[in-house]
Amino acid sequence: MPNSPADPLVSPLQLGPLTLPNRVLMAPLTRSRSKQPGDIPWELNARYYAQRASSGLIIAEASQISPQGKGYAFTPGIHTDDQAEGWRLVTDAVHAAGGRIFLQLWHVGRISHSDLQPNKQPPVAPSAIRAESMTYTSKDSGRVPVSEPRALEAGEIPGIVEDYRLAARRAIDAGFDGVEIHGANGYLLDQFLRLACNKRTDEYGGSLENRMRFARMVAEAIAAEIGPERTGYRITPCGGLDDPNNPADHPAETFGALAETLSSIGLVYMHAVERFRTSPDENRLESTLGAIRERFKGVYIANGAYTGDTARHRISSGLADAVAFGRLFISNPDLPMRLYKGAELVEPDQSTFYIGDERGYTDYPAMDL
Ligand SMILES: Cc1cc2nc3c(=O)[nH]c(=O)nc-3n(C[C@H](O)[C@H](O)[C@H](O)COP(=O)(O)O)c2cc1C
Repeated sequence: MPNSPADPLVSPLQLGPLTLPNRVLMAPLTRSRSKQPGDIPWELNARYYAQRASSGLIIAEASQISPQGKGYAFTPGIHTDDQAEGWRLVTDAVHAAGGRIFLQLWHVGRISHSDLQPNKQPPVAPSAIRAESMTYTSKDSGRVPVSEPRALEAGEIPGIVEDYRLAARRAIDAGFDGVEIHGANGYLLDQFLRLACNKRTDEYGGSLENRMRFARMVAEAIAAEIGPERTGYRITPCGGLDDPNNPADHPAETFGALAETLSSIGLVYMHAVERFRTSPDENRLESTLGAIRERFKGVYIANGAYTGDTARHRISSGLADAVAFGRLFISNPDLPMRLYKGAELVEPDQSTFYIGDERGYTDYPAMDL
């Protein structure tokens, strides 16, 4: 792609040891197309990601770090040798196509169903509070409400931190350039941060420092294992569990403090879902993002409902270093070139987002040049 200094979207960006050729990143997207049994990535997934290798950085879909970390049918894992071998097909294909790829590490916490859990146990959570959320447990289940979780014992938490560490190691050994810790969208680490679902009275609940403890332990363990320059962290500072009528969550304070903690560990980036399926109060969102930008010294990746023009503006005004695109990358595999050229964009077909075959997955063509 021609490198025009006039277009901030195609200016290179240093991310730890990696030089990203552009700032149009691919956001993590669950597509629920892993091979069964075993939640194993395979050739179809390799083809899909290789088609999107012109992205400055692919952040591959959320992948469970353990059987307990699973919340939806057909999502891939990164806790068995077979899964790691499957991911090797993906990372080799992306690298052969000239790309760079991180893997998002996922523990869903309470967003699961006992049918998806080992021995049909209830899912785990900071406190035994059921989420108002849906999942799918099989191809034909349709959407079903998540199960009532059980509260984790404090003594179980180091074991989950260890699962994260091992998953990060497996990801690097499978050829990923780094990992993104999934601390967003109401999953386990986000659940611990939020007062609405963390009612604990031990060292993982109550004060902000306590609610951040689990996230800090995970970030430290992964950074020690694979290097902070290969570790990113995703958040949803104003959305999801964050009830706009509940000022007790104080997003600027909460996520500003998290940003400072992650910065002190040296993580290479923070990535925020700024808006997705919610319309956060814009003033509150901007002040929260400002606190994060000020207190996190690494790269900041913005995401959520961006267009080429709003992304350009966000980067050139210094408020973000890069922008991740989700839905547009589903239907425009060559999105960086399309944005650069101002070409027409294809809208994705929502009915093929989750589960299924190559339709709506690898059959969106690149544009004719
Ligand atoms: C089909 C689909 C799957 C998604 N899967 C994930 C995921 O695995 N991990 C994650 O952090 N966010 C996930 N998201 C959220 C996206 O990464 C992104 O934040 C959201 O689509 C907003 O960005 P966009 O407006 O550019 O699409 C998903 C979104 C969609 C539409």
